[in-house]
Amino acid sequence: MKFQIKYGELAKQKSNCLIVGAFEDEMTTAELQQVDRILAGGFAMATRSGEFKGSKGETLLIHNPHPFGCSRVLFVGLGKKDKFTLGLLRQTGSEAATFLSARRIISCQLATATFRFGETVLKENLQALIEGFLLAGYSYDSYLPEARKKTSVLEWMELLLVDGDCKGEAQAAIYAALAICSGVCLARDLVNTPGNVKSPEFLARQALTLGELENVSVRLIEVEELKKQGFNALLAVAQGSERDPYLIIVEYQGGDAGDKPHALVGKGVVFDSGGISLKPGAAMDEMKMDMAGAAAVLGTIDAAARMKLPVNLVGVVPTVENMPSGTSYRPGDIVTSLAGKTIEVLNTDAEGRLILADAMTYVARYQPQSMIDLATLTGACIVALGEYGAGAMSNNDELAQTLVRCGQKTNEKVWQLPLWDEYTEQIKSDFADLKNTGGRPGGALTAAAFLKEFAGEIPWVHLDIAGVAWASAAKPGRPKGGTGYGVRLLIDYLQSLAK
Ligand code: BES
Ligand code: ZN
Ligand code: MN
Repeated sequence: MKFQIKYGELAKQKSNCLIVGAFEDEMTTAELQQVDRILAGGFAMATRSGEFKGSKGETLLIHNPHPFGCSRVLFVGLGKKDKFTLGLLRQTGSEAATFLSARRIISCQLATATFRFGETVLKENLQALIEGFLLAGYSYDSYLPEARKKTSVLEWMELLLVDGDCKGEAQAAIYAALAICSGVCLARDLVNTPGNVKSPEFLARQALTLGELENVSVRLIEVEELKKQGFNALLAVAQGSERDPYLIIVEYQGGDAGDKPHALVGKGVVFDSGGISLKPGAAMDEMKMDMAGAAAVLGTIDAAARMKLPVNLVGVVPTVENMPSGTSYRPGDIVTSLAGKTIEVLNTDAEGRLILADAMTYVARYQPQSMIDLATLTGACIVALGEYGAGAMSNNDELAQTLVRCGQKTNEKVWQLPLWDEYTEQIKSDFADLKNTGGRPGGALTAAAFLKEFAGEIPWVHLDIAGVAWASAAKPGRPKGGTGYGVRLLIDYLQSLAK
């Protein structure tokens, strides 16, 4: 999608469609009055008759308003002004984009005066709106016939600024939205890619392409080297699959050379059958999404590099396939992790924490300022929070609450769950330092307690994204499938660090 910025009188515009926003409680702004004059009182007539009230999600389309140069005017209702959030604005953008594409309108102009309001300045409002437009255009259709592909996606949009507006603000909004949506769409694509295509090697190759971005370098640790260095927890999970595991390391240097990085770790199980502790067949197809944490990490670094965020990052992705076979690890096995702690495997389906343990140990060598891991780790977290938010568990309440706030702002919700010492008691083993399950009670929390053992003194947050990584039904701006959850959240977090 291409964007342009322009100053000029609304009356003199020319396009297929002029989009104008309207708040329910502000139906007579200068902008709306101006458009009403262009329409010879047509807008006022529609509001008086109650055909358009400006309520959230409402639309009014006026055709061929002669002698106006735009062949349509689309009014979009924004609801009550004091109820408005960036999340609703993003949703409005998605709904407008869907409205236009259903009518095969692929270019438009946007009147922006209505969007200069609130604590957030024009930039943030426009950014959210444009994100909504861009994300609504996403589809995963590589395997669909031409006839079923999404064709009429918005291609061109012109932002109409009013005198006194700063062009730089609008420009920054466009750049940020494009960068973020590049990351989100990368993450969605990776999650949606089917398991037959998406081997650990596939994920590693995808990560290597990030190396083309400025200040990004990518390294892989392959299976022989993993063996040499003692990544035994990761290797145990991988050993049942024909496909070799990888440790992917992506570094982004946007900050000062001497500054310690912030670490991101993402679970990269390309397919989770459960292994010998085999999962039931129902919905097993969805377990191709068990690398959504990895996708979020790669998507975030993609976006951060494109935005040139002034931070240093190290992303680590352990990637494996969890399969049952004659070479699989078994319940009862004891493995010695990279950190030296011994782990009794009681359930081969609790594989995520094993590969994360070694990845966290590895990244701790960077002495990162903070560490955030994202993982589709437990069904228990879905039971707790549903599909609406990620569970956050942490050894540092301040960091966890920072992420909760970023979640509110980006509408990628985060809710902090407890990490009491009792959960750590629950995962002590009779035969090893730790066991990889603590039974059903508090399943999301014992999983986090397990990871905590590998975080050391580093301020660390674990985000269990099992419920939010995959959408079982479409919503505005997001089709069924991979959601790309985490990219917008983490970018907001990294931006807050840079400030
Ligand atoms: N990948 C699953 C968790 C999951 C379930 C993610 C559903 C998304 C949707 C994870 O590896 C797993 O199997 N967890 C087990 C842990 C248990 C065996 C302790 C679970 O949640 O049942
Ligand atoms: Zn899993
Ligand atoms: Mn599992």
